[in-house]
Amino acid sequence: MKRCLIMTVLLLGINSLAIADTVDERLAAYQAEGAGEFSAERGREMWFKSYSTEGQERSCTSCHTDNAGKSGKHAKTGKPIEPMAPSVNPERLTDAKKIEKWFKRNCKWTVGRECTAQEKGDFLTYLRDL
Ligand code: HEC
Repeated sequence: MKRCLIMTVLLLGINSLAIADTVDERLAAYQAEGAGEFSAERGREMWFKSYSTEGQERSCTSCHTDNAGKSGKHAKTGKPIEPMAPSVNPERLTDAKKIEKWFKRNCKWTVGRECTAQEKGDFLTYLRDL
């Protein structure tokens, strides 16, 4: 029992380190591309903002829902999407390739263009603490 607890604490510790590493590395890369300071508040606003794209009102929450701790649902395919909050879903924001792949797709679909380094940094700064 005690051992189990120690393992859990260790694993949680390792996981938050993985998030910190990946996100910090991404943020440094965005700044190298010319981004300035990042803001969780701007990230939050963009996350909930509604964009008119291809004649539809679209938002990050169209698929991820307005509760990042809950499972989402793909707006086009109806497929379930795991919760976005790293506190609930420890796999989130631990893989730089995955983050970039989905930023690319989701920004194009939602915003109608790729996100800038600044925007991606603001999104990650907001999402990492959910
Ligand atoms: C059309 C549906 C849809 C919309 C809209 C959408 N996403 Fe996603 N998003 C997905 C899917 C599907 C995945 C990958 C499946 C998964 O990870 O559960 C994903 C994954 C991600 C990931 C990867 C997270 C990780 O590390 O696991 C990030 C970051 C992300 N989305 C950000 C955004 C942002 C920012 C917006 C708004 C600009 C957005 N998404 C809008 C469907 C969407």
